[in-house]
Amino acid sequence: MKAIVITKYGSPDVLQLKEVEKPVPKDKEILIKIHATPVSFGDTLVRNLKAVSPKKFHMPFLFWLFAKLYFGFGKPKITRLGSEFAGEIEALGRDVKKFRKGDRVFGYRGQSMGAYAEYLCMPENGVLAPKPANMTFEQAAAVPYGAIMALNLLRKVDLRPGQRVLVNGASGGIGPFVVQLAKSHFGAKVTGVCSTPRLEYVKSLGAEKVIDYTQEDFTDGAETYDFIFDILGKSSFARVKRTLKPNGRCLLVSFKMKQLWQMLWTSLFSSKKVICALSGEKAEDLVFIKELIEVGKIKTVIDKCFPLAQAAEAHRYVEQGHKKGNVVITLEEH
Ligand SMILES: NC(=O)c1ccc[n+]([C@@H]2O[C@H](COP(=O)([O-])OP(=O)(O)OC[C@H]3O[C@@H](n4cnc5c(N)ncnc54)[C@H](OP(=O)(O)O)[C@@H]3O)[C@@H](O)[C@H]2O)c1
Repeated sequence: MKAIVITKYGSPDVLQLKEVEKPVPKDKEILIKIHATPVSFGDTLVRNLKAVSPKKFHMPFLFWLFAKLYFGFGKPKITRLGSEFAGEIEALGRDVKKFRKGDRVFGYRGQSMGAYAEYLCMPENGVLAPKPANMTFEQAAAVPYGAIMALNLLRKVDLRPGQRVLVNGASGGIGPFVVQLAKSHFGAKVTGVCSTPRLEYVKSLGAEKVIDYTQEDFTDGAETYDFIFDILGKSSFARVKRTLKPNGRCLLVSFKMKQLWQMLWTSLFSSKKVICALSGEKAEDLVFIKELIEVGKIKTVIDKCFPLAQAAEAHRYVEQGHKKGNVVITLEEH
């Protein structure tokens, strides 16, 4: 089968199309023919991990060290990228009970990655669910990572209908799902923050208001929020405090040691609190997300698709800051 393989870290040019062995499912595994896999934050990060210093990494030093040990310091140990996918079940291990041959599915591999390939084996109990009936493979492939993270992060706070939420980083992998879930599932009023090219995209996701961070610092505005979700941890709590309502929470999806101390300090001494949140991933969450998609509460916007052989161009397009929505690698005409 064909797969995109990396044997060294670096620019998009390290993504090479190669012929590799087709995987065979073990007893409790499923063989999936991949139709689509998006280019995510994790894919571009891991592809160029050698150049990522602890300072450039958005999480504490120990997370950086773990990532380097897991993915490889000098050269990649995980040679196939791609943590999300949508496709069709081609074969089943002999003990698989939950799925059938021909089922259309979407799923999340996390740091195991490997979806930049024609086929992939997933454990039956992995983060896998039937593909939403009202989405194409391309649209469905772009859901699992961002939607699972967003759902878990939103569940960490007691968000009620009518409350005001600001999402700093509303146009990437996670932010669009925080915007949509906060609005359509929890009934909140949402403001999204992103850069100029993606303002319309974030508005199309249902944000009541959008703020361009290249023109305006949201902490200078008069508007106050019950919850601020900061995806890259770009805001400083000293400034964010004045933008939070009494008892407001600033939930950091990316954070360093400093913010962990702020979480401790504010938990003891402040009515406005910092929460450094970690998200898990469960198959049940993806099944729930599929249901929300099918009742029209979540959508994905596809900006551009690239065939597998052009994975390097797909990465370049994302890194040059062009994307307005999702960029997806496709493997099959259908
Ligand atoms: N806590 C957890 O459990 C968990 C789980 C997964 C990932 N993460 C973390 O989440 C982060 C990746 O999130 P993602 O996949 O959504 O990333 P992404 O796809 O790269 O999106 C980044 C977002 O941040 C915006 N942004 C960039 N610079 C900004 C600035 N100066 N001010 C405000 N917004 C800015 C971008 O807007 P423009 O594109 O318009 O510039 C975009 O909306 C990583 O740091 C990762 O470690 C945490």
